[in-house]
Amino acid sequence: MSGSTSDRGAFGSQFGFVMAAAGSAVGLGNIWKFPYITGENGGGAFVLVYLACIALVGLPLMYAELIVGRRGGSDVLGSLRKLTAEHGALGNALSWFTGLLAVTTGFLILSFYSVVAGWALHFLFVSLGVVPGGETAAATFTGVGGSFGWSALWHTVFMLMVVGVVAVGVQGGIEWACKRLMPALFAILVLLLVYVGVTGGLGESLTFLFKPDFHKLTGESVLEALGHAFFTLSLGMGAMVTYGSYVGSDRHVVRDGVWIALLDTVLALMAGAVIFAVVFSQGAEPGAGPGLVFVTLPDLFAGMPGGTFVAVAFFLLLIFAAWSSGISLLEVCVAWMHDQLGLPRRVAAAMMGFAIWLTGLAAANGALTDDGVLAVLDDVTTRYMLPGGGLLVALAAGWLLTKEDREAGFASLGLWGARLASVWTVLIRFVTPALILLVVLAKLGIVDLSSDPPAEDDAAAALESRP
Ligand code: PFF
Repeated sequence: MSGSTSDRGAFGSQFGFVMAAAGSAVGLGNIWKFPYITGENGGGAFVLVYLACIALVGLPLMYAELIVGRRGGSDVLGSLRKLTAEHGALGNALSWFTGLLAVTTGFLILSFYSVVAGWALHFLFVSLGVVPGGETAAATFTGVGGSFGWSALWHTVFMLMVVGVVAVGVQGGIEWACKRLMPALFAILVLLLVYVGVTGGLGESLTFLFKPDFHKLTGESVLEALGHAFFTLSLGMGAMVTYGSYVGSDRHVVRDGVWIALLDTVLALMAGAVIFAVVFSQGAEPGAGPGLVFVTLPDLFAGMPGGTFVAVAFFLLLIFAAWSSGISLLEVCVAWMHDQLGLPRRVAAAMMGFAIWLTGLAAANGALTDDGVLAVLDDVTTRYMLPGGGLLVALAAGWLLTKEDREAGFASLGLWGARLASVWTVLIRFVTPALILLVVLAKLGIVDLSSDPPAEDDAAAALESRP
């Protein structure tokens, strides 16, 4: 049974939609993950590869998801089913599988995402002096991450924040919140950039981010960049399909998609610039790994002028980013319950929120261990489920949609639109699926891309080792 579309809700403006979609994209992925994987993978060359992945895989898929949502006008399952109807059983099966995979992925990602976002809440309150922290940031981090009680508490708070917004509705809840969170987030980042511009390290940071050193690039880093392109743009689990279904016009799909990807990329680079400036100005190491934001940075802040203020600003930034992303993760599940099962939004938000909260409790337990639920969920969702979902959406959009549905968003762009439409069709039919398959096969160990740095290095090393 499908819920009536009239009570689905809709964004009030194009701006509201772009803020919500960019809010989904800009999250922990930008402020926590992008900087640390860039640090681990040597900087500039990795950034270049990442930008190429955004262009070759991210943008085509972004358009595919948005157009499926706008033409389908329903949750991810309903939209796909409507648009692939003429393919009968094949379209139906693909829609069901992709839809349920997307909802499951959103469910699982939010359950652990909320635990990590909860740690940011903990650090915010420690920075404000409201909650006692450890002697060092590392101690504070193990104090919260290693404690089921603390992790569960903050996870609960974060889930309430997310459910509270989604339950209110698309315009009054999601759009209202994102129209405030995104500009605030941007303002904080600009302030922090100005701050590091004064306190030092910005030049070195920009060099690190933008001067490519291809010797540091490995097959693994290419895979990492491609995988991250999905995660950071919220692709492969129907978030953009769902948000796209709340806006009427097809005309602006291309422009909106470019804006969302651009905002996401610019904000990730800005966050990276700030973080590495702090790291370099204090003589720390950029390759600190996942602990960069929670273990390395807080101690560095403490040694800087106005350190408390900077720490508060930084963790607020992290929380705002995570909040607007968490909202979109829940919305995928809620829209499905509403559109497919006919449940009222508030009931769907409460039920899904509760179930995700319960799963998150499992993730909060032993959250810092390598084989804990959190690590496993992170691994399974980002390595396999997101790329798998992305592959299915690409195949559905490229091969099963009618030409009219497929190219609807390019129609208003005139001659250029027609050219872009053909380029997009080639990308979404062949290039995007091939690249995604490559990632999945490599992650499964079927294709080996884990090459060491280029052969000339080996040659040089061999020369050096000669007697
Ligand atoms: N894009 C978010 C980030 O970079 O943190 C994570 C995310 C949100 C992934 C929503 C998927 C999604 F549907």
